[in-house]
Amino acid sequence: MSHDRLVFLGIETTCDETGAAVLEGPHPPAVGVPLIRSSVVASQIALHERFGGVVPEVASRAHVRQIIPVIDEALKRAQVTLNDLGAVAVATRPGLVGSLVVGLTAAKTLALTLGVPLVAVDHLEGHLYACQLGFPQESVYPCLGLVVSGGHTSLYRCAGPLDAEWLGGTTDDAAGEAFDKVASLLGLGYPGGPEIERVARDGNPQAYAFPRSHIHDERSIFSFSGLKTAVLYAVRGQDGRESGAAPSSRMVADVAASFQDAVVDVLVEKTRQALVRWGMRRLCIGGGVAANHRFRERISAMASEEGAVVYIPPISLCTDNAALAGVALAKLAAGQTADLSIDVTAGLVRPGRG
Ligand code: KG4
Ligand code: ZN
Repeated sequence: MSHDRLVFLGIETTCDETGAAVLEGPHPPAVGVPLIRSSVVASQIALHERFGGVVPEVASRAHVRQIIPVIDEALKRAQVTLNDLGAVAVATRPGLVGSLVVGLTAAKTLALTLGVPLVAVDHLEGHLYACQLGFPQESVYPCLGLVVSGGHTSLYRCAGPLDAEWLGGTTDDAAGEAFDKVASLLGLGYPGGPEIERVARDGNPQAYAFPRSHIHDERSIFSFSGLKTAVLYAVRGQDGRESGAAPSSRMVADVAASFQDAVVDVLVEKTRQALVRWGMRRLCIGGGVAANHRFRERISAMASEEGAVVYIPPISLCTDNAALAGVALAKLAAGQTADLSIDVTAGLVRPGRG
């Protein structure tokens, strides 16, 4: 391994995906975009499918089983050994406590035994940094950042990879969570996003006038629980009682298309307001919902109307993966390493709010 290159390991276990990635950057670390030499994700979808959502205890146990094989596979694919690693980076927040602890324990153990720095990264900074990884030729900062995933719907003003100011987020469900819950209501599979997108192709997006909460509110706040309830009433009647009869495939397609458009309208308009308000010329999007084609088309059209460049990484970088920990290169360059007493943080850390 050459002396002017730093090879480091990234670990991701914030929710239900066990990820490990090998990344490479300059040594000594400088601000630059690391190269992804390998990225392995062991998905737990099959384990959580029958529950229609992530079961925290099931997730932690699966991480324990998968973490070492996934790290081994990432090293193998990158054709490196543990002794080539010059640092270990891990997402320590936010996420499910039991899941986060598995990744952090693995990372601490490796950093201690190999005698290399440990770097703690924020999963949401990682989701936004995925845009920089996806577009390494240019700087994506300063930018407005939108993270839309199963756990988060938040807007950020980012001066750089480690400087994200939280502008606001959802007051109840995350956008991806709404996709998952509505899919379950419609008898579709898990995760719900891709399923809703698939059936919505045959539906009429104007069939149902679902609410678009806070769309005219200047504040960067989102709410999807009213929309979810409106879908429930549309499918099961005003009293919410199940009639016993499954909705017809026509109804499923129309509800899915109308629901998808309602979510996309809100995400696009709230992002437009923030772009204009903060005068941003670049827009970075992260999180699993960014895989949605209708959302991609509409947010890209809006950005070009507003004269902003939009960065949406390839789908494999949008959803949870350990290459997100590549943001650690910027932390190493800034001398921000962690000591072995560091713990995980389950909740969202909102700059300025503690
Ligand atoms: O970022 P991610 O992999 O995990 C979290 O950090 O939450 O996002 C997963 C979420 C799920 O809620 C899933 O339904 C949603 O992203 N998702 C989609 C699509 N693909 C995944 N939502 C809408 N359309 C899609 N095509
Ligand atoms: Zn995520």
